[in-house]
Amino acid sequence: KLHKIAAIPADGVGTEVVEATKQVLSALQERHPTFELEWHDFDWGTAYYEQHGRMMPEEGLDELRTMDAILFGAVGWPTVPDHITLWGLRLAVCQGLDQWANVRPVTFHPGVPSPIVDAHERELDWVVVRENSEGEYSGFGGRNFAGREGAGEVAVQSAVFTEAGCERIMRFAFDLARTRDRRKVSCVTKSNAQQYGMVLWDDVFARVAADYPDVETEKVLVDAMAAKFVLRPEDLSVVVASNLHADILSDLGSAMAGSLGLASSANLNPERRSPSMFEPVHGSAPDIAGQGVANPVGTFLSAALMLDHLGHPDEAGRLREAVDKALAADVRTRDIGGGATTRDVVEAVTAAL
Ligand code: NAI
Ligand code: MG
Repeated sequence: KLHKIAAIPADGVGTEVVEATKQVLSALQERHPTFELEWHDFDWGTAYYEQHGRMMPEEGLDELRTMDAILFGAVGWPTVPDHITLWGLRLAVCQGLDQWANVRPVTFHPGVPSPIVDAHERELDWVVVRENSEGEYSGFGGRNFAGREGAGEVAVQSAVFTEAGCERIMRFAFDLARTRDRRKVSCVTKSNAQQYGMVLWDDVFARVAADYPDVETEKVLVDAMAAKFVLRPEDLSVVVASNLHADILSDLGSAMAGSLGLASSANLNPERRSPSMFEPVHGSAPDIAGQGVANPVGTFLSAALMLDHLGHPDEAGRLREAVDKALAADVRTRDIGGGATTRDVVEAVTAAL
């Protein structure tokens, strides 16, 4: 089956890990010719911005709408403020293509040291489901509001929660829980302090939960959830959280699993009215960009999520197995305690395929 895939490597290590992933996918495709990927490369990002004054062309979203999926690297570079690059490209695509569900698995890999010393004996494995279209990142607000005297400039940044937005992400989380060994959804909230949006969030959670009597539930404040990630992660299966809360918790989860460089994610439009986007959780890592040492595993595993989404779960499974084989054989980049280059990891995973 032929799939049209947009590649948007964008900035910094994004270009390195996307290139590495294309190589590994082409090796996978050679060995298992059950699918074919037709790549369409887009040079959008900070360099494009410096030349054209925008992060992507005006008709960019329309071009993406003709694709079956998008593989994204990372956006952001010290020469341009981060809010311009993030809103101009990554958020523009997520929100423009209504990729309202962001799925971020927290997966522990053989041979990768975790700051949780006995993580590997405890069989930890959970998924953060992030509301990806509204909440704290709805872009609602402004600067230069009149404040009380002596306050100086006042900026307002409002979180927007809609009943429909809450409901669809909750249902998504419950449906996902039903596909897992442990049928449980943990709802992350801050409804003690944020008495409007987060209370609506909780109300919708309770209402949706009633439709899934076979799924265990719990409601946890975000600060307590941060502690729970570290202290009782075996209690977790699906964790549903708002845009900001899930953003923070998923970085914590990936650090617990060994490195930000391992973490994968899918920005899904579950109705499949527009293409979904797959990307590593990490950013452009300017501190190591251009050295050939970026960990490509987070992007490989994002590509596995893409193969799942495109209807090739067996091939996705093969890719995951090959990644674990390479990691277990000590082919690890610097961020996870090894000395391997990006190239070495590509070669080891390709060999394991
Ligand atoms: P970052 O994720 O780029 O880096 C944080 C730390 O993790 C750095 O020490 C980096 O070297 C390391 N790291 C990240 N990815 C790695 C990989 N694949 N292999 C090995 N080590 C890796 O986050 P930071 O430094 O806060 O942001 C840098 C830029 O990236 C900023 O411009 C930021 O706005 C942008 N960013 C973009 C994201 C996206 O496109 N989705 C997400 C997060 C940040
Ligand atoms: Mg983040």
